[in-house]
Amino acid sequence: TQVDKGGHKHFMAKEIAEQPHVIAEAIRHYLPVEEDAVRLPGEGVDFSGVERLTMVACGTAYYACVTAKYWFEQIARLPVEVDIASEFRYREPPIPGKTLALFVSQSGETADTLAALRYCQEKADKILSVVNVPESSIARESDLALPIFAGPEIGVASTKAFTCQLTVLLALALKAACDRGHLSPEEMSEYATAIRGLPNVLSSALEQNEAIRLAAQKVSEARDVLFLGRGLMFPLALEGALKLKEISYIHAEAYASGELKHGPIALIDKNMPVVVLTPRDSLFDKSVSNMQEVLARKGKVLMISDQDGIDEAGDDVWCAIRMPRVKEALSPILYAIPAQLLAYHTAVAKGTDVDQPRNLAKSVTVE
Ligand code: G6P
Repeated sequence: TQVDKGGHKHFMAKEIAEQPHVIAEAIRHYLPVEEDAVRLPGEGVDFSGVERLTMVACGTAYYACVTAKYWFEQIARLPVEVDIASEFRYREPPIPGKTLALFVSQSGETADTLAALRYCQEKADKILSVVNVPESSIARESDLALPIFAGPEIGVASTKAFTCQLTVLLALALKAACDRGHLSPEEMSEYATAIRGLPNVLSSALEQNEAIRLAAQKVSEARDVLFLGRGLMFPLALEGALKLKEISYIHAEAYASGELKHGPIALIDKNMPVVVLTPRDSLFDKSVSNMQEVLARKGKVLMISDQDGIDEAGDDVWCAIRMPRVKEALSPILYAIPAQLLAYHTAVAKGTDVDQPRNLAKSVTVE
């Protein structure tokens, strides 16, 4: 089937804009309205006797795994290891009993991820995968494949597959939390309601497109950009930096906010844009105190927060992007939107080939 740009200038723009719609599709499958429980395909999986989860992936899918680690550990109290497939496969990691192995891949064909999966066959109790292509090798070789329903993704830089991966992984973490007795029916139903609200919330985030485009004009003049985030915003900072470097060719790095004083603060000067991802959540005060360390050194802070956060701490920032408020656990799915739009508009301002950045491939099927 031929996929067109649907009136957008680039596939990436179209795929960013499609997110409310495709996420609604994923939600419809995993959290059907008639029940306040997570529904998995086929035989599903029971997490009650599981002692450990090992997650393996590459690129953006890897950052989806890092995000999911926070969910599985905090909500389901399940210890998680996350690894880059090319490291995992040659390290010969021991896989103790009662371990589930989970592989995340948009294409389902990434060579390193597939090799890591094959390494776990016969060793892990069960092989799960989160994929966009249900006929792919990774899906076929798993005991249970969880489709993300993102539809074909053409832009090399992953956008809608990332947020759909996150949505499915959050649903899976909630399933694990219920199985393991860490989530009451009331709490589960609160999550379900919040998740069902995501398509609307993402649509209002997309309304910040013009504000982000203006910010991107300024960012496009930078040589380096730093991304900072704490907690669930840390993996998103990693993804934001990856997106920016992939398509705009601006050097970008991400740090956990708390690591600022262990190195990157030395780089801060008046030329350094620092993107601070900080919803007004339980870690806001900590994150703002790191942001103030950047401001004190004349760093240009691009603060991405909600109205309360901006009112409280946004006075001296270079620019502020306003997101809607969501339940704390859902924030990475929402904050992915401004991270993607920032990379997109910066690349457009620089005139790079957004959909097919130099040297990169959509799917890396060779080592
Ligand atoms: C390539 C793509 C990325 C993708 C990564 C993993 O590097 O450019 O967008 O995140 O591969 O691909 P996968 O298909 O396994 O998710």
